[in-house]
Amino acid sequence: MSKTFHVKSFGCQMNVYDGERMAELMEAEGMAASDKADADLVILNTCHIRERAAEKVYSEIGRLRRDDGSKPVIAVAGCVAQAEGAEITKRAPSVDVVVGPQAYHRLPELLRKAAAGGKDALDTDMPAISKFGALPKRGKQARPTAFLTVQEGCDKFCTYCVVPYTRGAEISRPWGTLIDEAKALIDGGAKEITLLGQNVNAWSAEDDKGREQGLEGLIRALAALPGLARIRYTTSHPNDMSEGLIAAHGEIDALMPFLHLPVQSGSDRILKAMNRSHTTQSYLKLLDRVRAVRPDIAVSGDFIVGFPGETDQDFEDTLQLVRDTGYAQAFSFKYSPRPGTPAADMDDQIAPAVMDERLQRLQAQLNIDQHAFNMKSVGRRCDVLLERSGRKAGQLVGKSPWLQSVHVEADGAAIGDLVTVDLVDAGPNSLAGECVMRKAA
Ligand code: SAH
Ligand code: SF4
Ligand code: F3S
Repeated sequence: MSKTFHVKSFGCQMNVYDGERMAELMEAEGMAASDKADADLVILNTCHIRERAAEKVYSEIGRLRRDDGSKPVIAVAGCVAQAEGAEITKRAPSVDVVVGPQAYHRLPELLRKAAAGGKDALDTDMPAISKFGALPKRGKQARPTAFLTVQEGCDKFCTYCVVPYTRGAEISRPWGTLIDEAKALIDGGAKEITLLGQNVNAWSAEDDKGREQGLEGLIRALAALPGLARIRYTTSHPNDMSEGLIAAHGEIDALMPFLHLPVQSGSDRILKAMNRSHTTQSYLKLLDRVRAVRPDIAVSGDFIVGFPGETDQDFEDTLQLVRDTGYAQAFSFKYSPRPGTPAADMDDQIAPAVMDERLQRLQAQLNIDQHAFNMKSVGRRCDVLLERSGRKAGQLVGKSPWLQSVHVEADGAAIGDLVTVDLVDAGPNSLAGECVMRKAA
């Protein structure tokens, strides 16, 4: 077996989480983490969401060959592994192991198979028995913020999206294992936990007393754990925003005033073709209800431009929805046809030049709104959780409750501290804060 390993994760935060779990698994096998350049084993934890993301894995594999002609043991994990399976080893014979997102607890076994010259070091099963039970306990966190996957998979089948195929059906992890994992993360130094799921707000399970709980119940229980200052969750689907979860935003102090709620398009015609099962009106009404209980909430979103059949008017409607919402931040993408999804076979695919132009206009509007949101924050006093050092000496960078990056001159403060700051200046991507005091978390 190899002695050092390196995990490189692409794609969403759930992949980052999986990457951490794979690293812990390899450490439990007696291997040590190392830089990619010299690692004996490289795990590429891949993303299949858009074509460019999926192609990245092949250029990465090419780059792993060393000057002397040797190469590390290569494992391809994540959503490309799930979607392409054995195709990967056909196209890139230097790959030794292919393992899907629901099977990576079997990575050590697959590596042993590969080392023994096995040709079948591939596992893209979606076992009914969850991988979580088979993984080692969470280790110490190097950072004050941690991810915790609570829900996996997706049953929504938006017509453009590969996630239901790469991650499988929606499942919720059980209550007890989540409370235990959160405690381990807090013991390891986490002050903020972000609950993750492709549809995180679809999470539900019985609590320790046998009562059915939604995400707000889990958030409430986590908020009661000593040492945990902040809770976030992502990604939510508009149709799974329950009354209880909305109310929680007005009731639970530790739940940060930030909501990532992708809408994708501002045209009802396109939303229908996307199978989003919400309208622009129902989306805007939902935001009104959240704002009624939490007026300062920062709203974030995802957008796709150039979905098949999108007209100039459909796109103008998207811009209008963006202006109406006033996003604090957002991600926007050009539509990418994905093999096996219904939208890939639709008529009226949009020309790349049209997509480019729409993306530019959308991003220009989103940047204006993000800057405006940041400017509106100037003058506020808030807590900042310090996460890393800044470029200048004595400067630390952390996150505001609204997930803005804040640069703080904080003599005597350290990474992991929660400090109270006055927000004094804002740019499009970050703010400057003056430290008022250091808080005990
Ligand atoms: N479960 C989440 C997000 C999953 S993927 C949700 O439903 O909101 C993250 C984002 O990638 C999506 O919100 C969408 O904006 C984008 N995306 C997904 N498939 C895409 C495709 N085929 N082309 C371009 N963008 C896509
Ligand atoms: Fe993809 Fe839609 Fe599911 Fe989100 S809700 S993961 S966009 S299918
Ligand atoms: Fe990508 Fe898979 Fe996440 S396709 S966005 S890594 S769920």
